[in-house]
Amino acid sequence: MYPLIRNRRLRANESIRSLVRETVITPNDFLVPLFVVEGKNIKEEIASMPDYYRLSLDNLEKEVKELWSMGLRAVLLFVKVPDNLKDNKGSEALNPNGLMQLAIKHVKNACPEMLVMTDVALDPYSSFGHDGIVEDGQILNDETAEVLAEMSISHALAGADFVAPSDMMDGRILTIREALEEEELYNTGIMAYSAKYASAFYGPFRDALDSAPVDLRNVPKDKKTYQMDPANRFEAIKETQMDIEEGADIIMVKPGLCYLDIVREIRNEVDVPVAVYQVSGEYAMVKAAAEKGWLDHDTVMMEQLVAIKRAGANIIASYFAKDAVRLMG
Ligand code: PBG
Repeated sequence: MYPLIRNRRLRANESIRSLVRETVITPNDFLVPLFVVEGKNIKEEIASMPDYYRLSLDNLEKEVKELWSMGLRAVLLFVKVPDNLKDNKGSEALNPNGLMQLAIKHVKNACPEMLVMTDVALDPYSSFGHDGIVEDGQILNDETAEVLAEMSISHALAGADFVAPSDMMDGRILTIREALEEEELYNTGIMAYSAKYASAFYGPFRDALDSAPVDLRNVPKDKKTYQMDPANRFEAIKETQMDIEEGADIIMVKPGLCYLDIVREIRNEVDVPVAVYQVSGEYAMVKAAAEKGWLDHDTVMMEQLVAIKRAGANIIASYFAKDAVRLMG
């Protein structure tokens, strides 16, 4: 007797393996997060994100040109706002000459075809480090959604192709879509962070933007009243379906690795592109273990990226985009 089926024939060498490979990562899969700061000629490494930097506008232009030359075609912009410009309502977010609005213009100036997506949430602008307006220890929902809609209009007018609300307020996709339509900004898309979990993996990102919730009486210490409970699955589907009904063009699951069951389920459920955000803490873990010599950086990185795509991601927001594309040669 011999084994009826010998699966190992399809694994015998790299030629056959590549012939039967089901999932392949390409530069087109990536959305590259970029952190922007005020000033000139600044490229500061983020302490908890080795090899990742905050860039001033001049260096942002250089960076997007490099990304473009590597075949990367989409960026997701975040700004680090100085403390003196922060308040409870995130007023600076609406400044037509604010850092985000300038960053959008600089990217488009350096690289007109680069797709620009912008983070829409109050936290980088909030004196309390929350994604919404804080009142009596609560995060106000509808009032926040109105500000997010104005913020979206401002980003669209500056030239953003897509706005990406990452705040998790209820009904904000509808509020934003209606506001964009009213302003005749029909072509501005919405990528909704739909299933965004209250995750400890966002720690390094909050270092990067100095945007963690502040430790004050009457200010919630975490984001659990708006971001989702990591224990929940049905709720992720509900959130996603609602965002699509409200007008989202692309939906997102975040973080990545711990939530790939959610990604697969949502991919099976919906008919819009699904983005996955491999977040700062996921990046930091790989960098730290590799630095110690405990894991092989490149192999682990590619294994994680391919797993995210295999789970159903059509778009991967990842700090590894450049590393991965370089490795592809
Ligand atoms: C803020 C926002 C966060 C991230 C993206 N947008 C942090 C948070 O919700 O506290 C996290 C991204 C990352 O960790 O890489 N609205």
